[in-house]
Amino acid sequence: MKVAIIGGTGDQGFGLALRFAKAGEKVLLGSRDIKKAENTVNIIHNMLKGEELECIQGMTNQQAAQKGDLVILTVPLQAQKVTLRSIKDHLEGKILVDATVPLETCIGGSSTRYVDLWEGSAAERTAEFLKEKETTIVSAFNNISSSSLTNIKEDVKCDCLVSGDDAESKNKVMELAEKIPGVRAIDCGPLENARIVEKITPLLITLNIKNKTRLAGLRITGL
Ligand SMILES: NC(=O)c1ccc[n+]([C@@H]2O[C@H](COP(=O)([O-])OP(=O)(O)OC[C@H]3O[C@@H](n4cnc5c(N)ncnc54)[C@H](OP(=O)(O)O)[C@@H]3O)[C@@H](O)[C@H]2O)c1
Repeated sequence: MKVAIIGGTGDQGFGLALRFAKAGEKVLLGSRDIKKAENTVNIIHNMLKGEELECIQGMTNQQAAQKGDLVILTVPLQAQKVTLRSIKDHLEGKILVDATVPLETCIGGSSTRYVDLWEGSAAERTAEFLKEKETTIVSAFNNISSSSLTNIKEDVKCDCLVSGDDAESKNKVMELAEKIPGVRAIDCGPLENARIVEKITPLLITLNIKNKTRLAGLRITGL
């Protein structure tokens, strides 16, 4: 399976690309700017020097979406729709994983505050935008910090909360998430539960600030 990461030059996309490449997945790292994507891939190659990599390539977001089997969106909320518009013709029949968190930063505010969206959550906003397409939307990776992902010397000691309306697609995303050492994927039910999951991230950012770390994460117990 080829994993396309849209906005893969940013913190979250970079962290996911790094971890999936390290796990031996085929990764297509997308950007608006092909040079930026290629530079980011070079950094990943340097970080994983000596490891056997299946394939990681830098390309435009459109190329990544076209060639990818599973597409992960890692852009800020203000870029969500414009980015989706630029790749929507390549998403037919695919799984689109939305990692977007609607932080107040998108309107000049604080990263410790959530912005309520008309559709209920960023993932449902994506679903609404792509409703004419045969694309399955899954919400995941919203609560795993890029700092944990990038710290490849350590496992990522976090659960990945996964929401979506299609069980098979959710299973694929959960399987992929668990390729990251330390990550346990949890089926959190329908896509509308992304409303709850996305709201946890500003809380984790608050905890990071209070505790002078960047690694706050979440574990669900008792399951
Ligand atoms: N960072 C984290 O720890 C973390 C954790 C959980 C969830 N998330 C969520 O994951 C998403 C990405 O976070 P991030 O920290 O990686 O964001 P970011 O670094 O600010 O941006 C990611 C990429 O999106 C593209 N982009 C930025 N602004 C854009 C614009 N106005 N129009 C089009 N493309 C634009 C850029 O790629 P190009 O310039 O290469 O096109 C950029 O490298 C966000 O929704 C965030 O809430 C982040």
